[in-house]
Amino acid sequence: MANRIYSAVVGSGGYLPGSPVSNNAMVERLRDSGLETSDEWIRERTGIEQRYFATDDQTTSDLAYHASLAALEQAGLEPNAVDLIVLATSTPDMVFPSTACRLQHKLAIRQCAAFDVQAVCSGFVYALATADLFIQTGQAQTALVVGAETFSRILDYTDRSTCVLFGDGAGAVVLKASDKPGILAHKLYARAEHEAILNTPGQLAHGRVCGSPFLTMDGQAVFRLAVEVLESSAREVVGLAGLDLQAIDWFIPHQANRRILAMVGKRLQIPESRLIATVGQHANTSAASVPLAFDVARRDGRLQAGQTVLLQGVGGGFTWGAVALRL
Ligand code: ACO
Repeated sequence: MANRIYSAVVGSGGYLPGSPVSNNAMVERLRDSGLETSDEWIRERTGIEQRYFATDDQTTSDLAYHASLAALEQAGLEPNAVDLIVLATSTPDMVFPSTACRLQHKLAIRQCAAFDVQAVCSGFVYALATADLFIQTGQAQTALVVGAETFSRILDYTDRSTCVLFGDGAGAVVLKASDKPGILAHKLYARAEHEAILNTPGQLAHGRVCGSPFLTMDGQAVFRLAVEVLESSAREVVGLAGLDLQAIDWFIPHQANRRILAMVGKRLQIPESRLIATVGQHANTSAASVPLAFDVARRDGRLQAGQTVLLQGVGGGFTWGAVALRL
């Protein structure tokens, strides 16, 4: 039997627009709408200290472009080496063409396969699993996998229970076909019966936005479900990779809330020292949160060649999934 083809991570990059927006800056902003919040409330309930917001003239593909350039530079590859772009976003530049095609244009890649994946905060994990299958089957050799969001565009600044939680950003990884591991295992899920607890229902029709264009969320229901599925998918995918939880060097779950991370860590009996947490500095950047956290930990030297990592997404849909890989 022919040897299995693996997808090896050969580069990563991240991009956060503008300057950090502190909790106190959000307090001021909400005060203008007659709403009260505080740095203490936000820190205590979520662990978030700051977030980044794109400027009015920046689109999701602009953020993706900067993260992609950084990832390609680290991989030592020219953009034209890429034969597949999979971009995860729920805040695309436009209805069509896809944000992946817009990114292809910005990177001046003449020709490759390019498409978006829409799985909200699970988007990057969905995109990574998809790109891995292209590489495993020989359909692609060099894939650029991106999570990029401008969630600030769909936040309702008159809803204090959601607008303080999210930020903008982009993260990217470059995968290359290799005979050494590589991505080891993944599993993706969706359970659409939970659509109502997290959605942005507005749609473009007949020249108008019909329905609310803003994110709505039942925070406590999302909290409970996120903890449940992050625990179950970690156990399942680590098992599919032929490992046990103690053999995983680093856990990088979706960065929604420090309390969710702590509760999942406790249930899996993972010490905090093996959990990468960037939610304090980035807030929840949806599909960008996992690749941004991955890139931060790779660049600061925590992630080392040969180590094992579990990446996990959970978000609207409701969707979730995990990818286990060896660096
Ligand atoms: N500042 C001050 N007070 C606030 C704020 C705010 N920004 N937001 C809500 N409150 C108030 C509420 O009005 C409520 O007041 P009341 O008791 O007078 O009615 C009080 O705080 C408590 O509200 P709860 O909703 O019970 O607060 P909770 O402890 O559940 O925390 C939170 C809310 C942070 C949203 C929490 O439920 C949570 O983290 N949920 C997970 C959701 C999440 O992370 N979503 C991200 C997107 S989904 C994803 O990425 C998977």
